[in-house]
Amino acid sequence: MTLSERDQHTIWHPYTQHKISSWPIPITRGEGAYLIDESGKRYLDLVSSWFVNLHGHAEPTIAKAIYDQALKLEQVIFSGFTHEPAVQLADELLAILPKGFSKIFYSDNGSTAVEVALKMAYQYWRNRGEMKRQRFIAFDGAYHGDTFGAMAVGKNCGFFGNFDPLLFEVKMFPYPTTWLNDNTIEEKENAILQEIKTYLENFHDEVAALIIEPLIQGSSGMRMCRPEFLRALQRLLQEYGILQIYDEVMTGFGRTGDLFASLKSNTTPDIICLAKGLTGGFLPLAATVCNEKIYETFLGDDFKKALAHGHSYTANPLGCAAALASLKLLKSTETLEKIAMIERVHRERLANLEEFPLIKHRRFCGTIAAFDLNCLAEYGSKESVQLRKQFLERGLLIRPLGNVIYLMPPYCITERELQNTYDIVIHEVEGAIA
Ligand SMILES: Cc1ncc(COP(=O)(O)O)c(C=O)c1O
Repeated sequence: MTLSERDQHTIWHPYTQHKISSWPIPITRGEGAYLIDESGKRYLDLVSSWFVNLHGHAEPTIAKAIYDQALKLEQVIFSGFTHEPAVQLADELLAILPKGFSKIFYSDNGSTAVEVALKMAYQYWRNRGEMKRQRFIAFDGAYHGDTFGAMAVGKNCGFFGNFDPLLFEVKMFPYPTTWLNDNTIEEKENAILQEIKTYLENFHDEVAALIIEPLIQGSSGMRMCRPEFLRALQRLLQEYGILQIYDEVMTGFGRTGDLFASLKSNTTPDIICLAKGLTGGFLPLAATVCNEKIYETFLGDDFKKALAHGHSYTANPLGCAAALASLKLLKSTETLEKIAMIERVHRERLANLEEFPLIKHRRFCGTIAAFDLNCLAEYGSKESVQLRKQFLERGLLIRPLGNVIYLMPPYCITERELQNTYDIVIHEVEGAIA
C-alpha cells in the first residue's frame, strides 16, 4: 500500500472535503523553499506551508537549535517553573516589538494566542469592576482561528456557518480593503470610521476590545488595508478608552516588509497575538503580548483575579529554542535583503498584470502579493481545486483562497525562482481565463 492509501484509511485532514479531494501528496523531505515528494518531485512552497515557514524547510541552524535544546530540557510544566529559552525569547520579542509592551503569555498556536487575548481583554475589565464591558468588535472577513472565541470574532470569514448558533455576539464592521490604483479608499475608510464612531457613542462603556488583523486579512483572501486606517482607528479607540488587539499571527516576523504590522503602521495596540512564523515554521508556539496596564489588573491576593488559562505545552523549550534561532536569522542582513527583494519583484510583476481584464484588485504588502481572478468561485470550488492541481503539476504549491491567487514565499526563495513563479502563474491563469 502506498503512503497516500494508508493515509486514506486512518487520517482526517484539516479543511478538506475528502469526498472530492485528491489524495494527499506524500512529502518526504524539505529543502529551502521546496517540498519534495516520494518520487523526488519538487514543489516550490509559495504558501509557506500555511503561512508558517520563514527561512525554508529543514533549515539547519533551527534544526540544530532544537536538537541541542532537546538534549538539555525538552519540556517542563510552566506553572511554578521557568527556563532560559522562554525568558530569553520574551526579552528578544519585547526588544523588537513596538515600545510599551512588558509581558509575554505563551501558548501553542494562532487560535490559542487569540483566545488568550480575548480572555485577557474581557477579564481586564472585570478585574477593574467594569462588568458591563462584554462586547467585542471585529471585522467582516477576519479570520482569527478555529477555536470558539476565535470563531466568534471571525464569524464572517465564510467558514463557520455551521457553528453560528454557538458563537457569542460580536459587532462586525467592514474592513476597508484596498488595492493598486484604488481611488475610493479614503471614502471607504471614512465611512467605516464613522460607523464605528457612531457605535461607540452608544456602546463605548459596554465594549471590552476590538480585534483586527492589521494591514492584511489573511485566510479570507489577503485583503489589505492602509496604515492610515490603522492610525485613525487607534485614535478613535483611544478617544473612547477601548482596548485594541492586533492579531499578528500571520503578519508578524517580516511578512509585511517590516518586522510587525504594528511597526509598519506606526501604531501600538494593547495586546498583540503572535504564532506561525514565531518558530520559523518548525514547531507550534504562540505568544500573546500585553502592556503593564493590562498585566497589573490581574494582580491581587485572590486567585480569581489571575488568568485561568494554560496549556500542557505552554512555552515548550524546544519551541522557544527554535524561535530564538529563527529570530537570529530574521534579523540578519541577508534575510532583510531577501524580504526587500521579494517585495520589489511583487511590485514589478503586479504592475504588468494590469492588462488582464479578469484580473482585479492587484495588491501587495511586503512579502505577500495577491489578486482576484474573476472566473474563480468560492473556497474549495471545482475551479479553484482544478487550478491548484495545475499549479502542483508545474511544481508550484499555490492554494487559491476563493477567487484570490496569492503568493507568500519563504524568505529564502531566490529572485529567479520568484520570477519564474510569476511566469508560470500568468501562463496558467491565461489558460484558466481562455
Ligand atoms: C491572522 C490569523 N490568526 C489566527 C490564525 C490561527 O492560527 P492557527 O492555525 O495556528 O491556530 C490564523 C491562521 O491562519 C491567522 O491567519
